[in-house]
Amino acid sequence: MFLKNVWQVAAFARELKDAPLTRTLLGEEVVLFRTTTGAPAALLDECPHRLAPLSLGKVVDGVLQCGYHGMCFDGTGACVRAPGQETPPSKTKAHSFPVVERHAFVWIWMGDPELADEARVPDIFWMTDPEWAISEGYHHVAANYQLLNDNLLDLSHETFVHAHTIGNAAVADSPLTVTQGIGNLGQNAVRAHRDMLNCEPPPFYVKAAGFTGQIDRWHTTIFTPPAFNIIENGSMPAGSNKEEARQKGLTRERRVINLITPESETSSHYFWAIARCYALDDAELTDYIQLEVARTFDEDKIILEAQQRKLKGAHFDAFPVTLRADAGAVQARRMMARVLAEEKQRQGEP
Ligand code: FES
Ligand SMILES: [Fe+2]
Repeated sequence: MFLKNVWQVAAFARELKDAPLTRTLLGEEVVLFRTTTGAPAALLDECPHRLAPLSLGKVVDGVLQCGYHGMCFDGTGACVRAPGQETPPSKTKAHSFPVVERHAFVWIWMGDPELADEARVPDIFWMTDPEWAISEGYHHVAANYQLLNDNLLDLSHETFVHAHTIGNAAVADSPLTVTQGIGNLGQNAVRAHRDMLNCEPPPFYVKAAGFTGQIDRWHTTIFTPPAFNIIENGSMPAGSNKEEARQKGLTRERRVINLITPESETSSHYFWAIARCYALDDAELTDYIQLEVARTFDEDKIILEAQQRKLKGAHFDAFPVTLRADAGAVQARRMMARVLAEEKQRQGEP
């Protein structure tokens, strides 16, 4: 069920400090730490000696010391010290995973290490670009990652789930346009776009973007496998020409960066960030967006976890009813089924 030959988020870079960090990713318990150079490293959270979780140990001079009998492992998993003997057992290795720190995240490659090309890390440059301000957060969601993809590709739910923040009737009432294949992302991308014209600004748009009169609003979810959903959203005074409004500084545009890493078949790590390209120095606004979006995603979490409980392990594509608004989610699921089958085929699995 998991796509492995892809970079996925293991942690916010800021989470990796002096202590080891343990996290279950794609069903594997992984321990993350920083080596002598400050670079991140990831090992299976299991000591090859007697299987104690390495995360119970500590980082000593940039190597990870097992908390049981003190064997030490470097970032490649090689044993560099073994207590009571001058030379460590040369063949002993903890299983290691390729990792890279980029765009304020630590990314992990859980598939074939030979294929771990750093050029394939998703380009979410907004995270560190001085032209954008970031509000960020994390939700643990007890639901399969594809339910989260469905949610982000069908934003008609904003009307019903998020009426107190970003939703109003205009979202669900406006038609969705779905396309596949986007510029440099190639064929493995789904784009779900909605324009909401001449509508009232929902509460969040009044407070976070300063609109009071009618607005034209748009959002576009760009999905790439397995669970990256970048939402471009924006708004401007109703009836404006978008380019002219941009030039006059009248648009309010954001990127909602949704990076989901499966924890298990029925749970997900949801790393998110909102990047805005206006009022960059307004720290109060940064905090306000963080709190409101966290509250908004709490609302999604309630629905998603309830959905997962209803599924009781049933096949996820077995939903009996499909609406027009599902078009993006349906295409993304088909794409996921295809890329998962291709990866299995390459690995020679049946
Ligand atoms: S279990 Fe790790 S050193 Fe013994
Ligand atoms: Fe939502």
